[in-house]
Amino acid sequence: MAKIRIGIVGCGGMARSHASRFGEVLDRIQVTAVVDIQKERAQVVADLLGNDPVVETDYRRVMSHVDAVLIVLPHHLHHRATIDCLNAGKHVLVEKPMANSEQECIEMIDTAEKQNRVLMVAYCMRFHPLVVKMKELIDGKVYGDIFQLSIWTEQLTRREEGHWTRSASQLGGGQFFSHGCHYVDLMLWMLGKPVRGSHYGTNRGTPWMEKEGTSNVTIEFENGILGYHFGTWGARGTRLKYSFHAHCEEGMIEAAISEGKLIAHSRATEHVTGKPTVRQKEEILLEVQNTKPTEVEMAHFIDCIETGAKPLTHAIGSLKGLQVIWKLYDAEEKNEIADLRHLGLGA
Ligand SMILES: NC(=O)c1ccc[n+]([C@@H]2O[C@H](COP(=O)([O-])OP(=O)(O)OC[C@H]3O[C@@H](n4cnc5c(N)ncnc54)[C@H](O)[C@@H]3O)[C@@H](O)[C@H]2O)c1
Repeated sequence: MAKIRIGIVGCGGMARSHASRFGEVLDRIQVTAVVDIQKERAQVVADLLGNDPVVETDYRRVMSHVDAVLIVLPHHLHHRATIDCLNAGKHVLVEKPMANSEQECIEMIDTAEKQNRVLMVAYCMRFHPLVVKMKELIDGKVYGDIFQLSIWTEQLTRREEGHWTRSASQLGGGQFFSHGCHYVDLMLWMLGKPVRGSHYGTNRGTPWMEKEGTSNVTIEFENGILGYHFGTWGARGTRLKYSFHAHCEEGMIEAAISEGKLIAHSRATEHVTGKPTVRQKEEILLEVQNTKPTEVEMAHFIDCIETGAKPLTHAIGSLKGLQVIWKLYDAEEKNEIADLRHLGLGA
């Protein structure tokens, strides 16, 4: 099968990260164009790839060189670029979050449908081997029924003065919208239908953020299961870094993402001295290199283009995750609990 020709639009930090991890999919794709309004940034990505792609400053000029695009732009530019690329007949893998408003997301979904092109959202955590295995164990009730999923992500992320990530309108919100969208997406994937929730954010500790730089969200799902995410861009110190705890009725599954380990914590009865003693048991279920699995994400995008399959991180599902965030932001402002039922498109 011929290689899919990919264009990368936006060549900042995340595009460099993508380009440095394409290794394993390079037998299926060829990056034929790289675009950034700052040409030297596009050139850096071209040099990383080393295969002499077209280097441009306007994505509209590279459409004849590509079959599909990876959009790695600031959030307020996702919508326009996605629509333009879809209308040019290109498949689109757009970085998270899909876009900054519901209306924009709906237009993107409609355009993909009209053009019969794949539109996938880059939620790379869905492809992380520890997360995939954790979901498998939860679904299989290997440690019994889940009742609480807690997720911590502690980072220090301070971009320079004037950077788009500081601005609420360009970012589309604060840390919760920009980064928390990964974990709302995971909670919806793992825990099912949301019922109600609350969010509290602060920019204490991250005064460079116009909206919150630290976010706490609790969501109640059907069957009373709870999901929680604490995320900060202001961590001057951290022990957990990235850590997910799935509490089930027979044990706790810990995805220590930063250590690359999936660990089961459960209780075991031992008979060492003839009488039974209940002890904590720790079992390492999986060990992987700490990685951002964007090459697996890209391979899935290519599978969808080649087979017509619906992406795991399809646009309609991604919109639902963002609707949850917008509802939670809205309720936070009104000092209310958010009603999270009946979201999605026609759901
Ligand atoms: N999945 C993840 O783990 C992850 C991590 C970081 C960022 N991201 C996402 O990647 C995207 C980009 O983030 P980033 O951190 O790389 O930002 P960045 O600021 O480092 O890069 C954005 C690039 O876009 C370029 N640009 C701006 N306007 C342009 C235009 N009109 N045409 C072409 N290029 C233009 C800028 O010059 C810059 O180089 C965002 O959606 C972000 O949320 C995802």
